[in-house]
Amino acid sequence: MLETSLDIQTIRKDFPILGRTVHGQPLVYLDNAATSQTPDQVVNVIVDYYHRYNANIHRGVHTLSQEATDAYEVARQKIQKHFHIGKSHEVIFTSGTTHGINLVATGFTSFLKKGDEVLVSAMEHHSNIVPWQMLCERTGAILKVIPMNVEGELVMEEYHNLLSENTKLVFCNHVSNALGTVNPIEEIIEGAHKVGAAVLIDGAQAAAHIKADLQALDVDFYTVSAHKMCGPTGVGILYGKEAWLNKLPPYQGGGEMIAEVTFEKTTYADLPHKFEAGTPNICGGIAFGAALDYMNGIGFDAIAQYEDELLQYATERLLSIEGLKIYGTAEHKTSVISFNIEGVHPYDIGTILDKLGIAVRTGHHCAQPIMDFYKIPGTVRASFSFYNTKEEVDKLVEGVERAKNMLL
Ligand code: ALA
Repeated sequence: MLETSLDIQTIRKDFPILGRTVHGQPLVYLDNAATSQTPDQVVNVIVDYYHRYNANIHRGVHTLSQEATDAYEVARQKIQKHFHIGKSHEVIFTSGTTHGINLVATGFTSFLKKGDEVLVSAMEHHSNIVPWQMLCERTGAILKVIPMNVEGELVMEEYHNLLSENTKLVFCNHVSNALGTVNPIEEIIEGAHKVGAAVLIDGAQAAAHIKADLQALDVDFYTVSAHKMCGPTGVGILYGKEAWLNKLPPYQGGGEMIAEVTFEKTTYADLPHKFEAGTPNICGGIAFGAALDYMNGIGFDAIAQYEDELLQYATERLLSIEGLKIYGTAEHKTSVISFNIEGVHPYDIGTILDKLGIAVRTGHHCAQPIMDFYKIPGTVRASFSFYNTKEEVDKLVEGVERAKNMLL
């Protein structure tokens, strides 16, 4: 047993999926960076919504619509509180992190001109590269890359050298999905603000492990997805400072986001509705609030401590396998281990692990520039959550050894 105040076996009972078998073997779910599992406490909220008050929001005078509207707005307030956001209208519901990033990238089109510079880190997910490339194509701005070192850490000296009065925007993930590196976002935000640049932090991989205080960070934009933190897929939020959200044009036109429409002219609704065109994922938003309640009930400090112990244990055990190399050895990491066995394709290891009931992700993890940096086609990635156990780590290690013996 690892040392923890958490009762992992009781927690696991909240996740019936963890009790299923795959190919006749007990499931060992280690793909939490792709999506976490959903506890009954959240599933029950989803079922309750459809059983009792499924209705469209902000539109009807009838009781169901009012109940759904209230529950949705309560969820917005829970999210506000969780991330220590100043005002609830600074929380924009989205379909997930990618939506939030595209909303900002599109909105900045009219603010940038030829020669302006946009910085992204070398360890971004494609969703935090492609929208900025598209923005640069539209505006003539130049995309520059904050380099990383072989440990998978950003070279902060280079970052400070790249900053200048031409820098208008800086984008970085809080945690790398492929390597697990926790980036020094405080320093990134402070440096960018010194030259007058705005900062968007992609919090998708951090939010399940680190409870970010967005006011203390003084960040301009922060995005997360519910499905990484015990919520459902298809919902997330974009936090934006009120001043920025007022300045940015709407991302999509439609119902809900208007104040008044005539064929001559439309005026837009106040925040947050200006950015919430169309019928949102109402149930998803409410369930996101329930997921935060669930995780806060367990406690983020206890989660972080336990996951760190799992990470240390799994790192040590995996490194005992000859020929195994871990990519991403930063000092500050979340519970993600990307690795390869010399001479074996990651896909083949993943396929054998699946036959043993062990779910990991293989491939480039939507972060091809990182794979190019290491000159590899991809990795096997095991990502751990607070409901994983030391015994599951042992099964992973045995599975990798078995795969190695079969493939070499
Ligand atoms: N971005 C998610 C991952 O890293 C899907 O797996």
